[in-house]
Parts: sequence; structure tokens; C-alpha cells
Amino acid sequence: MNVLGIESSCDETAAAIVRDGRILVSNVVNSQIDIHALYGGVVPEVAARSHIEVINPVINQALSDANMTWDDIDAIAVTYAPGLIGSLLVGTLAARTLALLKNKPLFPIHHVEAHVYANFLVEGVDGIWNMEGGKSQKQQPEFPMLALIVSGGHSQLVLFHDHGDYELLGQTQDDAVGEAFDKVAKILGLPYPGGPSVAKAALVGDPKRYVLPKAQLKCTHSGAHTGASRKAQASNGLNRTEKYGEGVAQVATSRIAQEVCHYYDFSFSGLKTAVLRAVQRETGVDFTFPSGELAARLNDVQRADFAASFQQIAVETLVDKAEKAFNDFSPKSVVIAGGVAANSELRRELSDRLPLHIDYAPMNLCTDNAAMIATLGYYYAQKHEPTSPYDLRVVPSLSMIKTTW
Ligand code: KG4
Ligand code: ZN
Repeated sequence: MNVLGIESSCDETAAAIVRDGRILVSNVVNSQIDIHALYGGVVPEVAARSHIEVINPVINQALSDANMTWDDIDAIAVTYAPGLIGSLLVGTLAARTLALLKNKPLFPIHHVEAHVYANFLVEGVDGIWNMEGGKSQKQQPEFPMLALIVSGGHSQLVLFHDHGDYELLGQTQDDAVGEAFDKVAKILGLPYPGGPSVAKAALVGDPKRYVLPKAQLKCTHSGAHTGASRKAQASNGLNRTEKYGEGVAQVATSRIAQEVCHYYDFSFSGLKTAVLRAVQRETGVDFTFPSGELAARLNDVQRADFAASFQQIAVETLVDKAEKAFNDFSPKSVVIAGGVAANSELRRELSDRLPLHIDYAPMNLCTDNAAMIATLGYYYAQKHEPTSPYDLRVVPSLSMIKTTW
């Protein structure tokens, strides 16, 4: 089954073709980084306008790179949530129109869930997957699977029991980790997008030079935080089903048990503020000095040392919680997903501390792309009827907490 994926939820216009949820046939990503770099961040109206300009050429490119025509496409999968409303509308409108014109089944896909599915791509068209550092055979992750989802908008630990059957173990209480990378980059005067800039600067920095705090979240839950205890918490509540546009979302309020257990939660806002205060101290100005002018007072060595010190604590925070969850739930596989999953230090630390082999997805499939949308589209299509192109609606804010399929 060949699925055409379409992604336009933020600042990347992307289309890709994936066969049987495991073979990457083509993958086209048109990034708007250069446009938004002028403003230091994504401007929603500019993003939507740029999607309109390139969506059709990007889709045509995905077909021609795959050497396919519309006759070869069995289904269309498109991101409908979450994201910037104007951006989502462009991709979904293109997908709905094409589904009608070409008479193809249409499937709505949740962007954050899809990030996880980049890990299910294991083959190129030649049958071999291009792993970093050479070609090798990659395995699909096994269930139960622990997923650390780390992007510009999300930081979550999710335990997948099967396709479409997962529970949220923990999430950030404030900023997402990618957001913290982006904000720290601004404080340090490193270029947009912040994550890769901080990672690059950190390569030559001393991670021990500045001592920054690691957030410890308090949890009111009594007793152990084992799988059994969470299952007991889960069985105390109600499940209800809600309809979000066309996507039917199962709300498993109790399984999440957010109100009692923060054991696997994260917090990054304090770390970001600690960097700001440390930079103020280092440059000898007080809190009233404009933060936007701080960077000019740092030299390259200080900048690199701040980047490395911040990155080390951010990575340790993520890996500490992932390690706890791994020990408590004994998953058969661990995957990381989302833009921050491209961070080499995170990959190194996770592999060092977890006693299992982790097959990381290629860096270009961690940041936004449509291959992950097409991949999840395949598994979603095994369990669901297609959505009517006339009814599909976008849902700009739909957390993974509330969605299971
Ligand atoms: O998944 P993504 O492309 O878009 C969202 O859905 O948010 O993630 C973007 C985020 C940004 O915050 C970016 O700074 C961060 O991922 N990022 C990185 C790296 N590459 C991208 N953060 C740390 N290290 C990287 N190498
Ligand atoms: Zn994303």
C-alpha cells in the first residue's frame, strides 16, 4: 500500500510516499527557515502564505522522485492537528481536494503521534536503510515501546502498548525542551533555529563551567510509581469518547492520572531563566538590562560554555525520566522523536544509560517531514475507515493526552 503523506502544520511544507508503513519511497521537505530567520521565529501568516506557494510543486516532486503517477497512490494521509491554523488549512485543503479529484481514501493524522512513527521507517526503495555512518539493516520497534517525544511544542514520555494504544506517562509542565533550546539560543545570540545552533556551539564548550539547576518535580502520588501502581490509578476513573472534527479521540482521563503523578513530568522554564540570570551575572549587568542586548556582551568562549552547560542539563533531565520509565515499565524498545531527537548529545546519553540497543531515526526524519505522516497513515488505515474529504477539519490544539485510535 503506497501512502502519500502531506505535512504543513508549522514552517515546513512536505510530501512523501511510504510503502506498507516501512519503506521510504520519496521524501520532499521545503523548509521556510530562511524566511523566518529574518524575524527570529515563525510568523504564522508568512508561514501559511509560503505553504500556499509551494504545496502543489512539493506534492508533484514527491510523485516524480518516486517515479509514480496518481495510479500508484492508494491513500492520502494529512496532518490535521496540532499546529498553526493557517498552515494546517493549506495542507488539509490540498489533501481534501486531491482525495476528491483523484478518488483516493483520506486519513487525518496527528502530527505529534506521527513523529514517533518516523521510527517505523526501516527500508529505502533498494531494500536497505541508509543509517548514519553507512548502510545497515534497521528493525522496527517492538511493543511495548517507550517513546520520548521532544519537539518545539512537546516534551512527553509515552508508553505505546500497540499501534493506536498508548498512555501518556509524563509531559512538560511549562516550556517544551525545543522551546527552551530556542529561547536559550536567543539569550546567547545564536541564530534561528536555536536547537541546532546551541548543539553546534556546545561542541566546543565546557559543560561544567556554569552550574545550572535540574528541575525536580514534586509528586503527590503515594506509593510506588511502578506499572502496577499506575494501572491501579488508571482503573479508578472513567473513559469517555469525544469527537474532534473528523478525528475520534478517546479520552482516557484516568489512565493518564495527571493530577496525582508527576513522576515522569519535565520542566524547562526554570532552566531557561537560570541561563538568563547566569548570563546577566557573567556580563555584570542587573535584571533590568534588556535581555536582547545581553548576547553582544558575551565572547565566543562564554557563549559555547553556556550552550554546553545548558544542553547537558536539558539532556540529563530528559534521560533521567526516560531511564526511570524504562526501569518501571520494562519496554521492549525505546524510541525518540521530534526535532530535539536530532540532538547528538541526547542520543549519546540515552544510549549510554539504557541497557538496550536504540535504532535512532535519521536526523532528517526527526524534524518535521511528511514521511512520518505517511507512515502513521498506513497503520491508521489498517484500523479506520477513511474520512470524508468534505468533513475533515483542522484542530490547532489537540494534545496527545486526549487522542488514541
Ligand atoms: O519537531 P520539530 O521539527 O517541530 C515541531 O513539531 O515543533 O521540532 C523543532 C524543534 C525546535 O525547537 C528546534 O530548535 C529543535 O527541534 N531542534 C533541536 C535540534 N534540531 C532541531 N534541538 C536540539 N538539538 C538539535 N540538533
Ligand atoms: Zn513536529
